[in-house]
Amino acid sequence: MKIAVLGGNGQLGTDVVQAFAEKADEVQSLSHADLEIADLAAVRDAFGKLQPQVIVNTAAMHHVENCELDPQKAYAVNALGARNVAAVAHDLGALLIHVSTDYVFDGDKGTPYEETDCPRPLNVYGNSKLAGEYFVRCGLDRHFVVRTSGLYGKAPCRAKGGRNFVDLMLKLAKDRGEVRVVDSEWVTPTSTRELARQIVVLSRSDAYGLYHATAEGSCSWHEFAREIFTITNTPVSLKVAGPNEFPAKVARPKYSVLENRALKLQGLNALGTWQDGLREYLGVSQSHATVQST
Ligand SMILES: NC(=O)c1ccc[n+]([C@@H]2O[C@H](COP(=O)([O-])OP(=O)(O)OC[C@H]3O[C@@H](n4cnc5c(N)ncnc54)[C@H](OP(=O)(O)O)[C@@H]3O)[C@@H](O)[C@H]2O)c1
Repeated sequence: MKIAVLGGNGQLGTDVVQAFAEKADEVQSLSHADLEIADLAAVRDAFGKLQPQVIVNTAAMHHVENCELDPQKAYAVNALGARNVAAVAHDLGALLIHVSTDYVFDGDKGTPYEETDCPRPLNVYGNSKLAGEYFVRCGLDRHFVVRTSGLYGKAPCRAKGGRNFVDLMLKLAKDRGEVRVVDSEWVTPTSTRELARQIVVLSRSDAYGLYHATAEGSCSWHEFAREIFTITNTPVSLKVAGPNEFPAKVARPKYSVLENRALKLQGLNALGTWQDGLREYLGVSQSHATVQST
């Protein structure tokens, strides 16, 4: 198959490109330098030349604070950009796999969100991504909208800069010996490598629609940190951060765990537990020591 990956040099896009290449698909990586998705003519031009059968859109403006500061740009990229890609995919007869987010939910539910739950974003980022989802869902039949959460991967997340949560925890432990992490926000950490493999599975399916795609299970950020240190046998004192220690500038869901209900119903779920994904990322097959944790 001929695949084009938008955001191909990003954290997720890098692994998506590799996952398709491993299946011997012909895959083209498109970076922001190659293509501005908010520009319909540029999208039309790029895909007109490539003629892909499958387009994977990982490109987004997803720095939550920056979206709040510049809502017009957030909507131009996350909503109208998605509309542009959907319109061109429709005209080419291509399948579109569009990546979205757990931040379309407000976090009040307290149990894992399913695809049938009503979204209620708390911030511009979540709102603009939800608008993008609707443009894709209305723009062409042959689509997968894939909501995910808590990504980490070998390639750096370009929007956030620097290290992902796993690498940051390991660096802080090494530099300081004590690490403080909140235990009041719940997510499902999902490795981009695993999600990329799930995207390849979807590209072979015609069960189009809206899907949640995260690793299995959930944890607080504090539990995630504890598992990182346990798996890597890192000596560290892990403490619970106080409620006002890392004040959020923008409202975010406190609980954004997703259930892969639709993937399971279709027999398409390829994601393992978040602990297994973490072990694969860290290149460790067995857990060792316990971490001193309060
Ligand atoms: N990271 C997470 O924890 C997380 C959680 C849930 C959902 N998601 C979603 O997952 C997707 C991938 O995230 P990621 O972590 O891989 O992010 P990333 O590393 O920041 O990658 C995003 C890519 O999109 C490109 N891009 C940004 N604006 C663009 C534009 N206007 N036109 C064309 N390309 C543009 C970026 O290029 P430049 O950097 O050069 O601008 C980058 O290559 C996004 O859709 C995001 O909303 C992420």
